[in-house]
Amino acid sequence: MIVRTEEMKDYEGIFDINVQAFNHRDDEARLVERIRQSNKFIPELSLVGELDDEIVGHALFSEAAVKNENNEETVIVLAPIAVKPALQKQGIGKALIEEGIKRCRALGYDFILLIGHPSYYSKLGFKPARNYGLELTQFEVPDDVFMVYELGENKLGQIKGELVYPEAFFAD
Ligand SMILES: CC(C)(COP(=O)(O)OP(=O)(O)OC[C@H]1O[C@@H](n2cnc3c(N)ncnc32)[C@H](O)[C@@H]1OP(=O)(O)O)[C@@H](O)C(=O)NCCC(=O)NCCS
Repeated sequence: MIVRTEEMKDYEGIFDINVQAFNHRDDEARLVERIRQSNKFIPELSLVGELDDEIVGHALFSEAAVKNENNEETVIVLAPIAVKPALQKQGIGKALIEEGIKRCRALGYDFILLIGHPSYYSKLGFKPARNYGLELTQFEVPDDVFMVYELGENKLGQIKGELVYPEAFFAD
């Protein structure tokens, strides 16, 4: 399998893989489309996993903000990530996330934040974000599913505030 940047020819495959991975609902597939059309979209951070000319996985890293009284820091959020059901638990998700982490670090972002399964993302280096002064109020979620990955050295605990997901995350 190779991991590469999405291209226009992949849009349909990406839509399909998100529908398949999320119980045949199209909410996450449509979220991808809204983010892609927004100014928070970073083309090289929409990654596909390709196997024998087929899209078997997709991960979208895009921009959001951590805001406090004094500052606003641009951070990355990971959502959604989807792997073809028949090929899950074989390392595809991990490969997509590891490549995304590498690219986000190279681009100079300090954090990747997400809402997701703690048992899965903790294996990949994500930590509970609220332990480090990061907040989330737009979505009501338990503490352990709101997670952060530190890209910049010693930024955890230094940059504090509320993660604010951009408009694209909220359907009309
Ligand atoms: C979540 C998802 C992207 C993970 O991708 P994947 O390719 O199946 O996962 P990987 O094979 O890379 O898993 C890496 C590790 O996590 C484990 N793991 C996988 N899914 C897990 C889960 N739901 N809970 C706990 N651990 C999990 C694997 O066993 C593996 O462990 P190991 O490294 O010790 O062997 C994929 O299962 C998926 O598309 N799920 C449906 C959609 C979804 O829920 N997306 C996430 C919310 S945005």
